[in-house]
Amino acid sequence: MAEPAGSPGLGAGESWAQGLPLRILVTGGAGFIGSAFVRLLLGLPDPPQVIVLDALTYAGNLANLAEVADHPRYRFMHGNICDPAAVEAAVAEVDCIVNFAAESHVDRSILDPGQFIQTDVFGTYVLLEAARRHGHGRFLQVSTDEVYGDVEAPRLSTEDDPLRPRSPYAASKAGGEMQCRAYHATYGVPVIVTRGSNTYGPYQYPEKIIPLFITNALEGRALPLYGRGTAVRDYLYVDDHARGIAMVLARGAIGAAYNIGQGDAPIDGQTVARSVVELTGSDPALVTHVKDRPGHDLRYALDTTRMRQMGWSPTRTLASGLEETVRWYQERRDWWEPIKSGAFWDFYRRNYRPLAGAGPVP
Ligand code: NAD
Ligand code: TYD
Repeated sequence: MAEPAGSPGLGAGESWAQGLPLRILVTGGAGFIGSAFVRLLLGLPDPPQVIVLDALTYAGNLANLAEVADHPRYRFMHGNICDPAAVEAAVAEVDCIVNFAAESHVDRSILDPGQFIQTDVFGTYVLLEAARRHGHGRFLQVSTDEVYGDVEAPRLSTEDDPLRPRSPYAASKAGGEMQCRAYHATYGVPVIVTRGSNTYGPYQYPEKIIPLFITNALEGRALPLYGRGTAVRDYLYVDDHARGIAMVLARGAIGAAYNIGQGDAPIDGQTVARSVVELTGSDPALVTHVKDRPGHDLRYALDTTRMRQMGWSPTRTLASGLEETVRWYQERRDWWEPIKSGAFWDFYRRNYRPLAGAGPVP
């Protein structure tokens, strides 16, 4: 297909980028997926202005944005989405908001749900209020497939399914979404929602299964598999998730939700553990069954037809994405070794010590 006029340098697959707003606020842009999204935007031939607002919690890391730190169209603002003054200062300078900022780890939500309500629910409300006042072009809420709750095989969750969250994390994300829906219906705020699946790749804080298991394997530590390791997830490579969000921002219908997922047969924990052992050349005996997570959702699986109709599809298989990711963690010990210290081990001890067999914890 011929490239539309006025898009020099854009490949056929990137023509969607012309629909992007000119000035974009990315909250939570110093985290895992948010930073991939920022790197994607600033790598476009004609990039928008990007402002990152981030509180730099334990999961936020300016090293994730090091490669764009000097980009003329990028600015970092240190601030909390729960703070109306910080939000106002950032929102005044943009045409749209993409909200990645969140507490994002299920096990932490089980230990301490309060901070999840604060950021994922109240913080979303503060952002929506600012969007309402400024009459912005778009408000994209980055949500998760976990809002659907556990889905029985062989069903796939579609965007019109009811939200049945079961973990404190999923409930707080569903709460954020519900407010988006209300602000759209009541005040006409032009909200769009994405529901991404389990994401993995470079720069992921080593607490979710894939980066935790890779770094534990590289350190010769146990890989603690919850229960029988049969719970399944749809695993998506981070750059594919980031590009999906950018396409929805450029082309999505106001008021709609979009599932972004690999869409293959979901993968169980045992398969993840086995693949990490193989790719890192580790001892299979590191894989250790521990007590199950309370309320463990046993299956997430997404229908991704809507995204595919928009022209999006993943560029990685789990095999190729996992291989790249393992290589990255092998090469970037300078990034993750400093993270696995101090406060990281405080969390690790609280979460894993009660689970018999999780191995020695420093
Ligand atoms: P992350 O935990 O790596 O990063 C979260 C970022 O938000 C960090 O930079 C942190 O400093 C920042 N932040 C937290 N609280 C804040 C606050 N109150 N104010 C400002 N900044 C704050 O998360 P992630 O894995 O990159 O996830 C990003 C978004 O995508 C989240 O909304 C999450 O719910 C959603 N999501 C994640 C996944 C996944 O598998 N990781 C899948 C689907 C959806
Ligand atoms: P996780 O990466 O925490 O993502 P989520 O629970 O948000 O989907 O967990 C993915 C799967 O891996 C889930 O079934 C729980 C399992 N898991 C383990 O078996 N051991 C672990 O140490 C972790 C963190 C997760």
